[in-house]
Amino acid sequence: MTATRLLASQHRQVLALLKKAASAQDVETRRRLLQAIEHRLTTHARIEEDLFYPAVKELARENTEEMVDKALQEHRVVGLVLAELLGVDPADERFEVDLTVLEGLVEHHAEEEEREMFRLAEKLAAGGAGRSDGRARRRGLASAPGACRFD
Ligand SMILES: [Fe+2]
Repeated sequence: MTATRLLASQHRQVLALLKKAASAQDVETRRRLLQAIEHRLTTHARIEEDLFYPAVKELARENTEEMVDKALQEHRVVGLVLAELLGVDPADERFEVDLTVLEGLVEHHAEEEEREMFRLAEKLAAGGAGRSDGRARRRGLASAPGACRFD
C-alpha cells in the first residue's frame, strides 16, 4: 500500500468512527468510540507530521510549503477540539455538538489533503520526479512521498 492510500484509508476509518459515535445512543459506546477516534487521529497525525509532510516539503514544488503549513494548522485545531471533547460527559448534549464540529474539521482536512497534497505526491511519484538532490531518496523514502510503501 502506498503512503497516500494508507493515509486516505485512515481518514475514512476516523470519519466512519465519528459517524458511529454521533449515532451511538449509550454513553459507554460513545466513550469507547471516542477513545478509538483519539488513538487513530493521534497515530495518523504522527505519521503525517513525522514522515509524510517533511517528505512533501522536500519536494519543494508548487505550493508544498503552504500546503503543509495549512495541514499543520488543521491538525492543531482538530487536536484542540478533540482535547475539549475528551473532557465532555458523553451524556451531555455538548458532546454531540463538539463531535459534529470535529467531524466537520476532519472531513474538511481529509478532503483538501487528498485533493491537493496527496494528488501532487502521487503525480510526482508516478513521474519519478523527486528533487534531484533527493534527501528523501537518501533516507529511503523513494523518489516522492506518494511512492512510499508500507507493505
Ligand atoms: Fe491527514
